[in-house]
Amino acid sequence: MTTDLEAILDVAEFRAVAEREMPENYKAFVNNVGMEQTLEDDLRAWSSMHLRPRALVDVTHVDTSVTVLGERISMPIITAPFVGSTFVHPDGEIATASGATAAGTVSTLSMMGSRPPEKVGAAAGRYWQQLYWVRDRGVLRDIVARAVVAGASALCLTVDLPVMPSFPRPMREAWQALFPHWENGEHAMYAVRDYRDKPFGATFPDPGVTWADLEWLKGLSGLPLILKGIICPEDAILARDHGAAAVIVSNHAGQGLKSSQPVAHALPGIVDAVGSDLEVYADSGIRSGADVLRALALGAKSVLIGRPTIWGLAAGGAAGVERVLQLLQTELEEVMAITGACRVEDINRSVLGFPPAYAR
Ligand SMILES: Cc1cc2nc3c(=O)[nH]c(=O)nc-3n(C[C@H](O)[C@H](O)[C@H](O)COP(=O)(O)O)c2cc1C
Repeated sequence: MTTDLEAILDVAEFRAVAEREMPENYKAFVNNVGMEQTLEDDLRAWSSMHLRPRALVDVTHVDTSVTVLGERISMPIITAPFVGSTFVHPDGEIATASGATAAGTVSTLSMMGSRPPEKVGAAAGRYWQQLYWVRDRGVLRDIVARAVVAGASALCLTVDLPVMPSFPRPMREAWQALFPHWENGEHAMYAVRDYRDKPFGATFPDPGVTWADLEWLKGLSGLPLILKGIICPEDAILARDHGAAAVIVSNHAGQGLKSSQPVAHALPGIVDAVGSDLEVYADSGIRSGADVLRALALGAKSVLIGRPTIWGLAAGGAAGVERVLQLLQTELEEVMAITGACRVEDINRSVLGFPPAYAR
């Protein structure tokens, strides 16, 4: 059955359509990271920030484009790294990257992805390479070298999982069903398949990594380094002091801490601490153009979307990813117009009606 993507009107409808197509085990996995408690907290935190319209501003031309790490993209919305894309579409991350490129933005390839950097880079033109710090530095070194050749324009190190916490039962059962597929066959993770001789699985993640190790990683390539999973301003300051080009304020859908501080609450403190020194992005629970506007108002340069990307991919492959991005872009254009912002640079905290403490 071909899905009429144009008939889907928002991210919630994308989810409903996608979940009819998704294999049960993968759906259970996606929906039980953090048991959705973290998601509910994030959604509530974003929506609690009410928006204030502005009157009689000429908003004939609204431009959502922004520059991230020196690259112009059509919208401040990037796809987040995500395990398991091939369970919802045979081209997996290749289709996600193509969809993001078609929409004029960039995608982030998970190191736990099933389609390799070379194919994703070829399809995308440009992409960001996500990394987990595994104990075998040879694996990390090799993946960085492959990413450089494949056309990655940034490295994105996820820093919020020093240990892999116990999975709650529904996720554990889903993981057990999915894991054999991640080791072998069409869904195999490239980092497992391509480094079979390395003790990869048993040594992920490396709990001993510290700020001092970043120098080594930065020295592997000339690519800018983004740190994903920062919630505390103290860590954002350390990221800056250790040469990161950007941080992503993210709680990883609750994969680490199930009661993590919502990103909407963490973001302003991080922007105030380092926003003039490095780029700050945000993900976790961004589900509408209004949420994008809220994050930008708090000082994020861009947002990332994780589950909405997977829902787009499940609903329509590359075209579905493109459509979900365009839909959010259109919603952003609309809320920008109604709140009196023609350019992303015009958005600031004065657009937020609540909570008052954030307003300037
Ligand atoms: C099933 C699942 C897989 C994920 N895989 C990765 C990953 O491989 N690397 C990573 O850094 N984050 C991963 N994330 C976290 C996402 O990149 C993102 O931070 C999180 O889903 C919050 O954004 P969202 O609310 O838009 O989904 C994953 C999240 C989920 C739910």
